[in-house]
Amino acid sequence: MDGRDLVRSVRVVRAVGPVQGLRSVRAAWRARRADARALPRRGAERARVPGPARGAEPQPGGGVIHFARSSLRVRVASGGAVFCGWDGAAPEPSYALAGACPEPDARAVLEPDTEGGWRVVSERVLVVVSRHGAVEVRTPGGAVLRRELPPRWWDRTDGPGAEAGGDAGRPEGGGGSRWVQRSEVAADARFFGLGGRAHGPRLRDGAYRLWNTDPGGAFVPGDDPLSLTMPVQLVVADAGTHLVFHDNSWDGRVLLREGTEGAGSGHDRPGACELRMDGGPLRYWVLAGTPARVLQVWTALTGAPALPPQWALGHQHARWGFGGQEEVRRVVSGYQERGLPLSAVHLDIDHYDRHRVFTVDRERYPDLPGLARELRAEGVRLVSIVDPAVQAAPGDPVYEGGAAADAFVRDDRGREVRGVVWAGESVYPDFTEARVRKWWGGLYGERLAQGFSGFWHDMNEPVSFAPFGAQTLPRSARHALEGRGGDHREAHNVYGLAMARAGFEGLCELRPGERPFLFSRSGWAGMQRYGGTWSGDVATGWPGLRASLSLVLGLGLCGVPYGGPDVGGFSAVPSGELYLRWFQLGAYLPLFRTHSALWAGRREPWEFGAEVLEHARAALRERQRLLPYFGTLGQLARLTGAPYVRPVWWSAPRDRALRDCEDAFLLGDALLVAPALAAGVTRRPVRLPRGRWYDTATGRAYDGPGQVWVEAPLSRIPVLARAGAVLPVAGEDGGTELEVWAPAAGRGGSGLVVPDAGDGWQRPTVERFTTRWADGRVVVERRDGSALGYPVRVRGLEGG
Ligand code: GLC
Repeated sequence: MDGRDLVRSVRVVRAVGPVQGLRSVRAAWRARRADARALPRRGAERARVPGPARGAEPQPGGGVIHFARSSLRVRVASGGAVFCGWDGAAPEPSYALAGACPEPDARAVLEPDTEGGWRVVSERVLVVVSRHGAVEVRTPGGAVLRRELPPRWWDRTDGPGAEAGGDAGRPEGGGGSRWVQRSEVAADARFFGLGGRAHGPRLRDGAYRLWNTDPGGAFVPGDDPLSLTMPVQLVVADAGTHLVFHDNSWDGRVLLREGTEGAGSGHDRPGACELRMDGGPLRYWVLAGTPARVLQVWTALTGAPALPPQWALGHQHARWGFGGQEEVRRVVSGYQERGLPLSAVHLDIDHYDRHRVFTVDRERYPDLPGLARELRAEGVRLVSIVDPAVQAAPGDPVYEGGAAADAFVRDDRGREVRGVVWAGESVYPDFTEARVRKWWGGLYGERLAQGFSGFWHDMNEPVSFAPFGAQTLPRSARHALEGRGGDHREAHNVYGLAMARAGFEGLCELRPGERPFLFSRSGWAGMQRYGGTWSGDVATGWPGLRASLSLVLGLGLCGVPYGGPDVGGFSAVPSGELYLRWFQLGAYLPLFRTHSALWAGRREPWEFGAEVLEHARAALRERQRLLPYFGTLGQLARLTGAPYVRPVWWSAPRDRALRDCEDAFLLGDALLVAPALAAGVTRRPVRLPRGRWYDTATGRAYDGPGQVWVEAPLSRIPVLARAGAVLPVAGEDGGTELEVWAPAAGRGGSGLVVPDAGDGWQRPTVERFTTRWADGRVVVERRDGSALGYPVRVRGLEGG
């Protein structure tokens, strides 16, 4: 036990008390012993590289290239995604991939290249494989986007994987070999993604771990990893944008190093990425194109984002420790009396009976369904936290039901694995098995009967409090992995994703007419199919505020568009200024939720004095006004994969100054939001993309590209609108109207509106609008020529 372990022990005891603290010590010892017993020791290994190419077999979309000690399958799929799989790996459904793999592009053919290599020529990418197994992905024009050096494996020479001398096939439960793959990107390239990282969105030089981890206390930028990691990188360079996804859920490390340019001297040093995995297949997808195109293909591959119901786009208020039904009522009335719009209240673990999942503390909440009905009539929903761990309490119906269904994770000897979470000694459903997901999904019936409308999945990395060792299940714990069988080394990172699937599918069955609303702390590539995420326990403080934005932007680029932070930070009492700036940022993020820890004070907008209340009210009203726009962005995310919140380089990835801009973002196509991220800010520089932009508060026009200074008084954060934008907003009478920002002289503009069709599964209709100048007036038209159907308000005329 070192100093850090001691700090952790104190934290564990503080979280669960001395008795459970002792249990957590026992659980940690058990985990250590199980792993020592059941996991193969790092025995004798032999390093292997592919060796020279021996020949190739063409197949639809590409082919298989045989090397002396491995083989590489290259397949270009119909949407332009390139699959590469070593050692026999083929494109096949996985936790990340939505369903059937995309069809091969029949026009893509494998042909011999110079110097004994091979190439696959297709419409969107060119893949060149050297005779030693280096793989280059190039644009059709020949510019190199990514160069993968020949991989290296460490095959076990005793035990599982020992036979992996040739085409060993896909490693199964035993894990196969460790491997490393190094790659190079352009000297000017920037890295983004890898799931939710607190110190992005641009990922600087350093090591990033791929292992979902509860940081155990509030996190700040620099803490890594966090709850939601993904082997998904988005790389942006002058030569083009690409996304690379390694379809492998094992523990791994990514080392990134940005390149440097030799200022025309010809001495560029390329950017470098090294991926080291502890096991699992070496198979990956590369998607190239514009950022919008890349996200569209990524969404086609891994599934369209779930659409939150309209109410989930309004303001939501959470608190760990409301205390009871009366207090919830009081808080809601507080919002109403002050004219503050509120969409939902979230109940944390303290509303459970002794912290047990799927129960209610009936003393504090004697009539939860009644409260839910009452609030619902006032337009406020209830959202419930759901933790995966089930207290191992004989007689508890959830535990007994799960035990009868054989639902819980077992160790190598077939005993239930026990960890410690809030409720005490607990067991963990194995969500990697369909029948367990089905059992768990059915439990949401109890939540619906209590009147809950939405679900907040937490502690699903999964967490087991431990004074030493990993704060999760033992790596040797057994999982079904959809019938293949394997252990926690492979299942850990997909645990939260599979839990989200269980909840989502259960809710679809229980309430077929309504879209489920759920968001989850942990997850993996593809989790957007089931819901969104939130940033977890971000530390209260200005660095935490920055981290909030980084997480939302980074996850959006990994295909998870719906997310947001704990406004005000989780861990301490914020100053009025910090709270307000966080609130103002949150108002422009998809999940707009105030939340705090038990010990970290309150987050109601009136808790910070009259001035903060007034400005928070303005932010809330603006959010309310923008709801039709948020609804449209949610629909567009579902249809196209484009996140609501986008980096400012989204439409101009070649603008290097934009590429390095991390303190502002685009909200859809129309708005650029520049939050105040430090104390005392009253004006700030804003880096603009090309074109004309209006400060929405003053109407003043600015011309990009370039940097301008704009006012950022305490009352608001700068929001700029793109000239020519058409966006739907709520009018004073509550109906939707079109806000149109005057196009620059001689130019036009456009915008999309996807009207709210209810909270079911209605097919959306996309309405397209254009705008232009004619006879000194701004004219707005519907692209299909039909009547406009909305009142129009043109803005930006005063800015000239
Ligand atoms: C975790 C969650 C936090 C929640 C707390 C109690 O720390 O991240 O949001 O309030 O658990 O459930």
